[in-house]
Amino acid sequence: MTTFVLFGGTGDLAKRKIIPALYSAYVNGRLAASFSFIGAAREALTDEEFRVRVAASIEAYASEDADHSAEKMAAFLALTTYSKINAHEAGDFEQLKQRIHTSETDPTLFYLATGPDIFIPVVEQLSKHGLVEGNARVVVEKPLGRDAQSAKEINQSLRTYLNENQIYRIDHYLGKEMVQNLLALRFANSFLEPLWNRKWIQDVQISISEQVGVESRGDFYDRTGALRDMVQNHLLQLVSIVAMEPPVNANPDAIRDEKVKVLRALHKFTPEEVSKKTVRGQYRAGAVDGKPVIGYQAEPGVPTASRNETFVAIRAEIDNWRWAGVPFYLRTGKRMASRCAEITINFKPIPYSIFGKAQGPLRSNRLVISLQPEESVQLFMKAKEPGEGIRLSDVALNLDFAEASNLRRVESYERLLLDAMHGDLTLFVRDDELSAAWAWIDPIMSAWSNDSEGLKSYIAGSWGPAASSYLLAQHGAAWGEEY
Ligand code: BG6
Repeated sequence: MTTFVLFGGTGDLAKRKIIPALYSAYVNGRLAASFSFIGAAREALTDEEFRVRVAASIEAYASEDADHSAEKMAAFLALTTYSKINAHEAGDFEQLKQRIHTSETDPTLFYLATGPDIFIPVVEQLSKHGLVEGNARVVVEKPLGRDAQSAKEINQSLRTYLNENQIYRIDHYLGKEMVQNLLALRFANSFLEPLWNRKWIQDVQISISEQVGVESRGDFYDRTGALRDMVQNHLLQLVSIVAMEPPVNANPDAIRDEKVKVLRALHKFTPEEVSKKTVRGQYRAGAVDGKPVIGYQAEPGVPTASRNETFVAIRAEIDNWRWAGVPFYLRTGKRMASRCAEITINFKPIPYSIFGKAQGPLRSNRLVISLQPEESVQLFMKAKEPGEGIRLSDVALNLDFAEASNLRRVESYERLLLDAMHGDLTLFVRDDELSAAWAWIDPIMSAWSNDSEGLKSYIAGSWGPAASSYLLAQHGAAWGEEY
């Protein structure tokens, strides 16, 4: 029997992402024939009470194309039970153990959707109760640590009880369809590779903008900030895939070996560089999509004088042969003008225009890979506008994945849960990747903590502080929306 145990089973992430993803996998026939789901959390709930919550989470958040019929729901709930767990109570784990049918062949998956402070106590108890032997795997949610040192300590402790190949460090961006498509785009096509380097690329921009604020997570977010919440993981993972060398094959470690080299080659900033190459901001009251919203400091759970950043822009560099001198502009923020995750490769301009300046804008070619809201790859080129004379305009060769295939889109959490159940580590972060990412983040965090003046404010619903535009403008570049 394959058993899925969800620690933090009553939490927000479980409710919004993990349970709906599990349900979607179930109704699409992707779970093992013999499967059981155990929710685990501190609250004392009966199985039935937990099932009511599971049903509510599926109703509210499972994808619309998942079968929501009463029969399917009842069948899924019949596989669901609950175990009250206090991470420090050995007796609770004894009871959990009674519910798990370990087997040599079927995996047991422990998903730790909890704060990192209880990762180790939980894993220690699991180990003491003989639950992580054999085919057991442990999925751990981000943030894994607060800095390089704490991440190292967590990793070392995890490794006391688990082998590296039992640890699935999740970064849900890796489960997004377009992120995997990036591997196909780069390594299954021949025409891009000769251009994919400093000779032809002017800059790379990776931007993840969100319209939501901190939602119900003010307290957590204020201790975390955008740099730890988004840059250390999602953005750096995207950087590593865009910039990696071709792996020798598509095995998990071959891919991760190349990704980690990129993370290690990221140029580490001195404090002076941090002030020149990074911008951090915090939203104040404004309007998103025409609706008024409160400022960050007025959000529940956020201290009124908070200096925490909700926006980050960075001019990163990669010190290696392929990328020396090519800026990687990274940006992410909450309460921004639109929800969009996009990678833009700006190619170098043509060396000389035979058409002269009067013939239309001469923005150079660019490849835009959209992760969300749409999934697409667009190659913007110059073409002549119809009619007399020659006037140039930007046109896109557009690969829209919704049009290109009507196969079911698998949501990132579902994809990653299934990969973990099948023992595929490709889309999970290895410990050395995590350390290398933190090693780059640490100097930025420490320079910021010594510079209380550096936090800029921006109006909710905008594209962030003006300093973010200037970060690029001073090098003759601009963010996509500014053209
Ligand atoms: C999470 C962050 O990892 O990613 C959240 O903790 C953020 O703050 C979310 O909102 C964004 O994910 P997505 O898939 O909606 O872009």
